[in-house]
Amino acid sequence: MSRRIAYCTFGCRLNQYDTEAIRTLVDDGCDFETVGARDAADVYVVNTCSVTARADASARKAIRRIAAERPTSRIVVTGCYAQRAPEELAALPGVALVVGAADRSRVAELIDRLEDGPPVVAVSPISTAKSFLDVPITEMTEHSRAFVKVQEGCNESCTFCIVPQTRGVSRSRTRASVLDQVRRLAGAGYVEVVLTGVHIGDYGLDLPERRRMLPELIEGILEIDGVERFRLSSIEPASLGDEIISLMAESPKFARHFHIPFQSGSDAVLGRMKRRYRAGEFADLVTRIGERIPDCGIGVDVICGFPGETDEDFLRTFECVERLPITYVHAFTYSARPGSEAEHFTGQVPGEVRKRRTRALKRLSADKHRRFAERHVGQVVDVLLETSRRGGTTRIGGWTDNYLRVDLGEGRADARLEAVAISGLGENGLVGVPASGCTGADGGGLVDDRRAGAGP
Ligand code: F3S
Repeated sequence: MSRRIAYCTFGCRLNQYDTEAIRTLVDDGCDFETVGARDAADVYVVNTCSVTARADASARKAIRRIAAERPTSRIVVTGCYAQRAPEELAALPGVALVVGAADRSRVAELIDRLEDGPPVVAVSPISTAKSFLDVPITEMTEHSRAFVKVQEGCNESCTFCIVPQTRGVSRSRTRASVLDQVRRLAGAGYVEVVLTGVHIGDYGLDLPERRRMLPELIEGILEIDGVERFRLSSIEPASLGDEIISLMAESPKFARHFHIPFQSGSDAVLGRMKRRYRAGEFADLVTRIGERIPDCGIGVDVICGFPGETDEDFLRTFECVERLPITYVHAFTYSARPGSEAEHFTGQVPGEVRKRRTRALKRLSADKHRRFAERHVGQVVDVLLETSRRGGTTRIGGWTDNYLRVDLGEGRADARLEAVAISGLGENGLVGVPASGCTGADGGGLVDDRRAGAGP
């Protein structure tokens, strides 16, 4: 009887892709049956994030829970937290193996050879990660859309960030491999592809061509048959040029949605963060997008309470978000990351002030998002359907191209694009029915449960 293995992922879309790649390596190299994260398994792989202190705490909590519920199971920890603080994780109950980013190509072999005894720590210095680990995947378990990783690592040195220490320098996947990956996923039935990386704007710089190649990569993907919708994940403002905005404006396949790290509307704070743009340039960019692409979903990341951030600095951020055509904000309360430059900055902002600013920005975000969503009531929009469980019921929902959540009520549906008539705005986003008049609910076609499920 084959052993059972389960996967649990924290963090960004990149981590979702990495989990899928680890699963592929394990499926190819060992005799394991994959089961759900809550099922009984011999091995649990926890792919961690370390972007904030809260992300670390979530990973530790999950590990402790697994160890308490499944005392005879072995826990394998990987991801950004594992690279940053392997010994801390190796000391947790149940942990048998900690695998770093540079050692991921050996993950299947290490899992296969797990033995009783003290935990194994396979974490080489991140500087040894020199090339892109190319693992083609064939599915994106529990997602209706497929994430495609095109780049790893980052050459910037933002003072708040630990990602360069956890993922290393920028490494790109070859263009041929990316296009092949997208064709493979389109062939498997994924109609929406999301392109991911740590710093996708640097795509190509380390390839033989030695230049930024993101726009031409996007053009290649847009030409692939079967890809009905294409989306970019987070992109740095300095990398988001007119070429990409024009591609979006001209291609109906290119989802009208950008997610752009903003971090602060204060030039003084941006300077201390070592960000490469200033608030005015960011505002020009977002204004330009708003003018070129009607109803574009524009999300931003903001860090609240970075060291030295005054009330006036925060007010500048708040006013920028209020004034610009931003449709939602991911507001993070600053927490000093061990190993980052800002960890030792003076002027640390009291915790209560940081949290208060975060709450204020979240309220503004909710308000802007609601007003943006309301504009769609009465329209017909394309929604990528997915089936999910909520409050004990099975429901059909999905996302518009400009990143609005739509609820279609109880039922199940295949992952497909459907024209939906928006009838109102509920607690959890827009509410609608298929514009064809046929609900598709409760019996519309075969459902692949492994592909239906979670949102972003
Ligand atoms: Fe977290 Fe690492 Fe992604 S820190 S957000 S999993 S790059």
